Amino acid sequence: MGKTIIISNRLPVQLQISNGEITAIPSVGGLATGMKSVHSGGDSLWIGWSGLTDEEIPDELAPKIDKALKEHGSSKVNLTSSEVDGFYFGFSNRTIWPLFHYFLEYSEFELKNWDIYKKVNQKFADAILEAADDDDTIWVHDYQLMLVPQMVREKKPDISIGFFLHIPFPSFEIFRTLPWREKILEGLLGSDLIGFHTYDYERHFLSSVRRLLGLDVSFNDIYMDDRVIKVDSFPMGIDYKKFNEAAKENKKNQPENQSELQRRLNKHKDADKEAKFFLSIDRLDYTKGIAKRLYAFEYFLNKYPQYKEKVRLIILAVPSRSNVPQYQLLKREIDELVGRINGEFSTVSWTPIWYFYRSMPFENLIDLYTSCDIAWLTPIRDGMNLVAKEYIATRTDQTGVLILSEMAGSANEMNEAMLVNPNNFEQTADALKEAITMPKEEQRERNSILQKRLERYNVEKWANDFMDSLLDQKGKDFSHV
Ligand code: UDP
Ligand code: G6P
Repeated sequence: MGKTIIISNRLPVQLQISNGEITAIPSVGGLATGMKSVHSGGDSLWIGWSGLTDEEIPDELAPKIDKALKEHGSSKVNLTSSEVDGFYFGFSNRTIWPLFHYFLEYSEFELKNWDIYKKVNQKFADAILEAADDDDTIWVHDYQLMLVPQMVREKKPDISIGFFLHIPFPSFEIFRTLPWREKILEGLLGSDLIGFHTYDYERHFLSSVRRLLGLDVSFNDIYMDDRVIKVDSFPMGIDYKKFNEAAKENKKNQPENQSELQRRLNKHKDADKEAKFFLSIDRLDYTKGIAKRLYAFEYFLNKYPQYKEKVRLIILAVPSRSNVPQYQLLKREIDELVGRINGEFSTVSWTPIWYFYRSMPFENLIDLYTSCDIAWLTPIRDGMNLVAKEYIATRTDQTGVLILSEMAGSANEMNEAMLVNPNNFEQTADALKEAITMPKEEQRERNSILQKRLERYNVEKWANDFMDSLLDQKGKDFSHV
């Protein structure tokens, strides 16, 4: 058996150049954080975009860049700035991302961007073809690269190809609005195995294949020419041990070893034992429902004024896709909302919202997870939401309450959390109150079940299940179909 080639738009690290020096910063987002754990354990090659455009890379630094990526088991696909505009900011994030998250009104259908998407997908496919031997296994990731499986299949008909979609696959009624819908399906069907986070996404995909391409579908097998493509759901897990152990270490930190953030959080908790921290962590993305959460927080403070000066909402909003106009508008909206709510409710001794617009290093994420009594994660629509799983994994004494949106893929596996509809402020305000007053005993009961499940279905098991299923599919004899 050959090597595994992972291919995604994002690599585990993003490169930056300043003063002639190259720095590698960890990528954010569920795909990169999850696959990083898988990649570090085995002998795989990860191909993707470095985060720098060709124009940003001076000739003399090119070899250093390749070396820096090699240290992370990665190699890059070169993209010009106009390719990044059309492929990444354009078709991927102004067409597919909003459409697949049911934000139809945000989706733009630009022929020029579609053409660039095709061209860039071909670049990724060519990079695979250059690196792959016939006995290798190719694992393609996410909505930026949906044409790649077919492009590779054309040149290497017998190679093993798996594809995993990290975002929702929408219902047929939404998907059918895409002008290039058949091409996207055909691109994906170059794979031997197509994986989704949930059974619903899988069902939506199969329905689109049946209705748009008229192919035979039996259970989760698609029959196309002389091939059978398997479709299945594989809910992605986290590196449970890493989060759990980091949280244990974090608890042991003596004051002199604590981060500034940890010290501050502890100081506030010591000053008022009754005070509660609500935690909200997301990329700054309209699908995450951050603005709705702020309105719901205001609603909660008005409905239950007894909690003024007793609760604090900590928002970590990680900058994301800031060249896309909808993200710029959202940033402005959130800045204003935080300012307005803080202006309205603050007292001399209390600021209701702490707002961080940046990404945080792993240690600080752990500080936040371990110090906050309630995680409030209510996306409007989310493929999975790994932050919810990470929060539970860090609750080493099993206290803590998770308020999670029904619209997150992770809600399917996290029934013991408090599941809410993010559009229902009444329900959300009541859930916050219930979370504040939930007995520790009940918190432990819920979290111990969740922790056992997360520990068992960790990211390693997710990757192994996917790879085993791909291997199994490849091993089957379809000569009779
Ligand atoms: N994350 C990070 N740095 C931060 C905040 C978050 O690396 O400052 C990580 C977080 O630990 C999680 C991922 O980003 O693993 C977010 O994944 P999720 O599935 O919740 O959402 P996505 O961003 O993929 O939509
Ligand atoms: C989601 C997507 C990933 C993407 C991540 C971060 O998790 O499924 O493909 O990498 O968001 O977004 P970005 O645009 O920065 O890669």
